[in-house]
Order: sequence, then C-alpha cells, then structure tokens
Amino acid sequence: IETLLAAGPLKGVKALVTSGPTYEPIDPVRFIGNRSSGKQGHAIATALARLGADVTLISGPVKLADPANMRVIHVETAREMLGAALGCLPMDVAVCAAAVADWTVSNASKEKRKKDASGQAPLIELAANPDILATLSEKGSARPRLVVGFAAETEKVLEHARAKHQRKGCDWIVANDVSPQSGTFGGDFNSIHLITASGVEDWPRITKADVAERLAWKIADVLKGSP
Ligand code: CTP
Ligand code: CA
Repeated sequence: IETLLAAGPLKGVKALVTSGPTYEPIDPVRFIGNRSSGKQGHAIATALARLGADVTLISGPVKLADPANMRVIHVETAREMLGAALGCLPMDVAVCAAAVADWTVSNASKEKRKKDASGQAPLIELAANPDILATLSEKGSARPRLVVGFAAETEKVLEHARAKHQRKGCDWIVANDVSPQSGTFGGDFNSIHLITASGVEDWPRITKADVAERLAWKIADVLKGSP
C-alpha cells in the first residue's frame, strides 16, 4: 500500500469536491440552512488528496477545519457554490457531496426584517436553486470525465437513487440508506449502494471514512491510465 501511495495513483488528477450545507439568506441576519456537517465531503476530499490528487474543496458553512494539502473555497449560497464550481473547470473528476439548498429566498430583504404592528408574520417566498451536479454533468466538452453525486434516501433507496442517476446525468450515485431501520442515523456506520453504469455495489456497514477511502480508490481505478 505504501508503495502505491508514494506512486500517487491520482497524481496529476484534478478533483473538485463540494461539501457541507448552503445557507440561503432571508435578510442580513437570517438564513435558511440544513444540518449537513460536511464530514462525508471533507473526508472524500482528504482521501483524494492522500492518493495524490490536486483537490479543490468547495465548502458551505461547516464547523470543520480546512483539510490540509488542498485548495479550499468557502461559499454560503447555492449560487455561490455553482459559480465557484464552474470557475474551477476544467476538472477530471467532480464529487458533489454538498447538501445544496433546493430553494433560495426570492424575496430576501436588504435590511433586517422588522415585526409589523399588526402582528402579521412575513411570507418567505422560495424559488428553485440551480442544480450543481446536473449542471456539471451537462457541461459538454468542459464536463469532468467522472461526475459523482450523492443521494440520501429514507425509503425505496435504490429506486429513488436510480431515478436520480438518470435525472442528473452523472456517472455514479452514492446512495445512502438513512432510514431508521438501517440503523445508520446518528450512528457510526452508513449503508451504501454505489450505482454505476455497470450495476450496483453494496457497501453495508461502512464508516464515512471508509466510504471516502473506497470511493477514492475506485475513482483512481477508473481514471488511472487514461490521461
Ligand atoms: N445537488 C446539487 N445541487 C442542487 C441539489 C442537489 O448539486 N441544487 C446534488 C447533491 O450534492 C447530491 C445530489 O445532487 O450529490 C442529490 O441531492 P438530493 O438533494 O438528494 O437530490 P435532489 O435532486 O435535490 O432531490 P430531492 O432533494 O427532492 O430528493
Ligand atoms: Ca435536495
């Protein structure tokens, strides 16, 4: 293993990873966010760098320190994440692990919203955000050679993940079973189905660190030997 690492199976490979949540502002002091920790995305970026890849990590707001040996771009909104991702192209591989907000606040206000005397609560209007994974998958000549997405599902995991694989136009989907029955929620283990063109691989009872490690090696397998 050490000899292989020294050779750097991903040496010369440019890798883009998105990680963490996005925050969508309501006003200058409030936002809509989600509970993504960024642990899985950051672990993947770290695993890719360890195999010698030239990694750019685009991270939403997380509590994690910037991993070593890579470029880290910090963003807040889905739009900023998309802009940063497009600005990084060309890339050899893109792994979209971020929990991107599906909607942005279309009536965000420039000034802090104030309570009005009538006691009426304000209406927050939402508009669809761009899909970073789908956009990268459709990039034509600027498309990364390998585009990987995630799907966290609580039911009909394979069915939903397969539909996402089709819809997004990505090469692989890492489907994570987060149903209460899977026993993964809040625990140390994940339960993964990796969907590729050649079928489905099951990785039952696996940690986030091991998901990252296995994915990085699998990416190396595919990109190795094809400059
Ligand atoms: N994704 C993205 N940009 C978005 C939404 C999702 O890049 N605006 C990516 C995620 O990073 C992930 C994949 O798409 O790799 C699947 O995200 P998910 O939220 O599971 O899928 P959606 O298409 O948003 O469908 P839904 O939330 O309705 O299940
Ligand atoms: Ca979503």
